Amino acid sequence: MKHYVKMAASAIALTCATAAFAEPQAEVLHYWTSGGEAKSVAVLQQEFADNGGTWIDMPVAGGGGDAAMTALRARVLSGNAPTAVQLKGPAIQEWYEEGVLADISAVAEAEGWADVLPASIAGHMKCDDIWCAAPVNVHRVDWIWANADVLEANGITMPTTWDEFNAAAEKLQAAGITPLAHGGQAWQDATVFEAVALGILGPDGFRKAFVDLDMDTLKSDGMVAVFDQMRTLRGYVDDNFSGRDWNLATAMVINGEAGFQIMGDWAKGEFIAAGKVPGDDFLCLSTPGDGFLYNVDSFAMFDVDGADKKAGQELLAKLTVGKNFQKVFNLNKGSIPARTDVDLADFDSCAHLSSDDMSASADNGSLLPSYAHGMALRGAQAGAITDVVTAHFNSDMSSADAVQMLADAVANSM
Ligand code: GAL
Repeated sequence: MKHYVKMAASAIALTCATAAFAEPQAEVLHYWTSGGEAKSVAVLQQEFADNGGTWIDMPVAGGGGDAAMTALRARVLSGNAPTAVQLKGPAIQEWYEEGVLADISAVAEAEGWADVLPASIAGHMKCDDIWCAAPVNVHRVDWIWANADVLEANGITMPTTWDEFNAAAEKLQAAGITPLAHGGQAWQDATVFEAVALGILGPDGFRKAFVDLDMDTLKSDGMVAVFDQMRTLRGYVDDNFSGRDWNLATAMVINGEAGFQIMGDWAKGEFIAAGKVPGDDFLCLSTPGDGFLYNVDSFAMFDVDGADKKAGQELLAKLTVGKNFQKVFNLNKGSIPARTDVDLADFDSCAHLSSDDMSASADNGSLLPSYAHGMALRGAQAGAITDVVTAHFNSDMSSADAVQMLADAVANSM
């Protein structure tokens, strides 16, 4: 017995010693590869290094993260998961259900996350009753970005209805300027589509269609009108849009080749990285209609062996939700902090608009998860919708046919 106790004591001593000497290490899979994104993630890499961590970077280029998710699946299937992964919404829950996520509750509790995160965000970070992800930010998806000089030169103010948007686009087209900078990639089509849908269906209609998957709403006249507006927008895109990356579309607005871009506020990160000033060089306004589509980036930690990696996960989780990182990262990224106690004095007018609208939307029930950015639906269902959106945008399919196809695709995905 005595011998056993002694053995146990030395085992504990050994474990403590290992933990004490553990050198935090994290292999981080993410898709932040554009100019603004790279600047943002560098903030975390620096903070991680300053705190004794070794960061092994695993960037997988591809906006919206489709390629990154394919890479993740391959790594997990081969039994070699990365330590931390940029993951979102229901995908966090899907990986948790596969039994491969680590429990980071100890950090969350020590750092008091429950007191500084809005309940809507905290809900996405919990799997059953444990904390399984650390939130980075709140991106808003339903934005229009514009080149201020181009608009002024053409006597255009920021549109507040889709009719105004269309009228402004016609003016730009007549002046030889591409009205809408867009990249023909499925996730970008979906991004524009959900902003249009929010405006035309309204927040309740959006929730019914893309959160509840209500068949009547999916097949409604309102949805026909959404596809009609998508067809109109297709006419405002230049001939070379196919396959273009989102940040190259943003560059077209930055350099005045195009008037507008409909994109989440990671686009603001590109304007900022290019030294442009909101309100002066570029303009931001939410897309026409009420409501707020949120997209919360987060890091989920995968279940890995080794004291160094576990220490890396703890350090990364702690720093990610830390006040300094939440401020500096989001100043670069275009988003706003997930924490509610970060001073926004240094943030620009677009960020203030986002923060104010988010509070108002939370109060009146129009704060909604983005379907296009993986916050509202499981992968199979979101994918089924996006396939239809893209098929319609890239063909002469009628709105009525698109609506029928949408209803069928959603029914088959359930
Ligand atoms: C979003 C993601 C953003 C940004 C963007 C472009 O889904 O939440 O952080 O990276 O895609 O890739």
